[in-house]
Amino acid sequence: MKKNAVKKDFPVNLVRRFLEPGPVVLVSSRWKENRDIMTMGWHTVMEFTPSLVGCVIASSNYSFNLIRDSGECVINLPTVDMVDTVVKIGNSRGGETDKFSEFALTPGEALRVEAPLIRECHANFECRLYDDSLVNKYNFFVFEVVKAHAALSPKYPDTLHYTGDGIFQTSGKLVDRKTMFREEILAT
Ligand SMILES: Cc1cc2nc3c(=O)[nH]c(=O)nc-3n(C[C@H](O)[C@H](O)[C@H](O)COP(=O)(O)O)c2cc1C
Repeated sequence: MKKNAVKKDFPVNLVRRFLEPGPVVLVSSRWKENRDIMTMGWHTVMEFTPSLVGCVIASSNYSFNLIRDSGECVINLPTVDMVDTVVKIGNSRGGETDKFSEFALTPGEALRVEAPLIRECHANFECRLYDDSLVNKYNFFVFEVVKAHAALSPKYPDTLHYTGDGIFQTSGKLVDRKTMFREEILAT
């Protein structure tokens, strides 16, 4: 980018366009006989060991109570070919309809949690609620990934990244700078 590129005032509520944190995921949950799936655009890795992920789940989402009451969920990683399903799930409310049936997704049995995996996704991360101290104030959940399943190939799948306003970016070219890293940083 040019050092002296002209910059304009930018609305602070839209900075997600530039700060999107990673791939859009589908979060599946179950509590008693109810199960659901929501689309999630914003989450953050907080720690590697234990493996902690933080995210905001709006309290108006049907998933919110399923996840808070069960203390569990599965974070599933969809690929670009699933974009329409991702959008439809994120624009529909669970409870009255079962999103697995509605969107022809296959539930899989998880090993460490009761919430279902989504088989069509590239990877599935079984999560337990680790810290709920910010849930009441910010709807911010901290999960520990207690079990992870990932397809062997491709190693770097084409994922969706949400910039707001109905626009997604896809993961692009790989840039290899391994030789510039300190060993202990590369290991993380
Ligand atoms: C691309 C996209 C990203 C979204 N990201 C989030 C998010 O990070 N947190 C959230 O609470 N809702 C998010 N939503 C909204 C929920 O997915 C949506 O409210 C969904 O209908 C909730 O389903 P439920 O009521 O069955 O739980 C997103 C929706 C879309 C389409």
